[in-house]
Amino acid sequence: MLDVKLFEMKTFLPMPYEDALAPRLKLAHEKLQNGSGAGGEFTGWVHLPRDYDKEEFARIQAAAARIQANSQALVVIGIGGSYLGARGVIDCLCSPNYNLKKKDTPNVYFVGNGLSADSMQEVLDLLDGVDFSVNVISKSGTTTEPAVAFRFFREALEKKYGKEGARERIFATTDKARGALKSLADAEGWETFVVPDEIGGRYSVLTAVGLLPIAVTGVDIEALMRGAAQMMDICATPSFDCPAWKYAAIRYELYRSGRSIELLACYDPAFRFMSEWWKQLYGESEGKDGKGLFPASVEFTADLHSMGQYIQQGKRLMFETVVRLGASGHQLYVPRDEDDGDGLNFLAGESMDFIRDRAMEGTLLAHTEGGVPNVIVEADGKGPEALGQLIYFFEYACGLSGYLLDVNPFDQPGVEAYKKNMFALLGKSGYEDRKAELEAKLNK
Ligand code: PA5
Repeated sequence: MLDVKLFEMKTFLPMPYEDALAPRLKLAHEKLQNGSGAGGEFTGWVHLPRDYDKEEFARIQAAAARIQANSQALVVIGIGGSYLGARGVIDCLCSPNYNLKKKDTPNVYFVGNGLSADSMQEVLDLLDGVDFSVNVISKSGTTTEPAVAFRFFREALEKKYGKEGARERIFATTDKARGALKSLADAEGWETFVVPDEIGGRYSVLTAVGLLPIAVTGVDIEALMRGAAQMMDICATPSFDCPAWKYAAIRYELYRSGRSIELLACYDPAFRFMSEWWKQLYGESEGKDGKGLFPASVEFTADLHSMGQYIQQGKRLMFETVVRLGASGHQLYVPRDEDDGDGLNFLAGESMDFIRDRAMEGTLLAHTEGGVPNVIVEADGKGPEALGQLIYFFEYACGLSGYLLDVNPFDQPGVEAYKKNMFALLGKSGYEDRKAELEAKLNK
């Protein structure tokens, strides 16, 4: 089972804090369990691994099987919470090179998560001569980036298969009743999946938002849910035996002692997009009211050769949370070389995991000595069940952390500011006054 370990933490936090913090954690826990805290209407994810819609789950598996049968590629259109979870899980479990691998499941292309014409054109080009389907994901159904991308990919689908044929290949994941995407899907007869009202984007990876694209790659989504359910059961007990309590407490105490950045580190490059998912989860949940740790991420050992310098000797701003994923799926052993020209024979016969683990220990010791506290999150392996545990663990700890910080962990009012400016500058109706004001500031 996933565990949280603290390394030499007494150097950084000499006073015991658990007993003092326990009543506040218990209160935060009750708010999550009962939906009685700020934003409580968005705590549907807390019991999701038990209460998820089994009929829809079966429809997701059936749709994934159809896509696998009739498509060589799936285009997943979504941004933020409607994208990062699926990408994180697919990269982590299938590899960041999934699309390049020989396999009998479709490639998965993520689009609509930015506004780059070049990257969109690239995917359109890659689809030339390829049978494909589209999963458009937007809870609100009105987000500009995915809505614009969907125009292009829907047009490409309809050109290739006609309106009728395209209908079988468009899957819309959105609100159950509201929004432009829902209306469009109903009018056009596309199959729809639901982003539940009570689950916000960044907590939605274990709903159809994440599950459909993940299932298309052949990942066992039942195992993913099983892992999440195991962690849900553990988190139901309000005590420091719960790893989410340990993690929420330590990061809160480190924040209170002056740390302002949390660096999530992992020694597996396949974890990169899980880190991106984690950054959104914590950044959007905590970064408000002038508060919150800044969530950043590094990929070790690669970043030890770049960011490593700052971490070791730069301004003492951060602490590290190191995710350890356990044994690699493949064991590789360093070959012996008769000449030993590179002097590496002292490693001959050792596995890559052995070398990685020594790098991990060396870094832990060096960074701690350099004044960077280290928290270790030890996952229960590398498969879908372990990842399900990890996802729920981070979500639960995030909810607890938000309430410890006394913010609403389930809203994101700050995200609107850029949108309003963009709409005004694009000439959307209703924003005329703001347009003039902004253009004056830009000297247009
Ligand atoms: O966490 C969130 O709510 C956001 O990141 C949203 O997921 C993101 O803005 C996309 O929104 P939507 O799914 O409504 O298109």
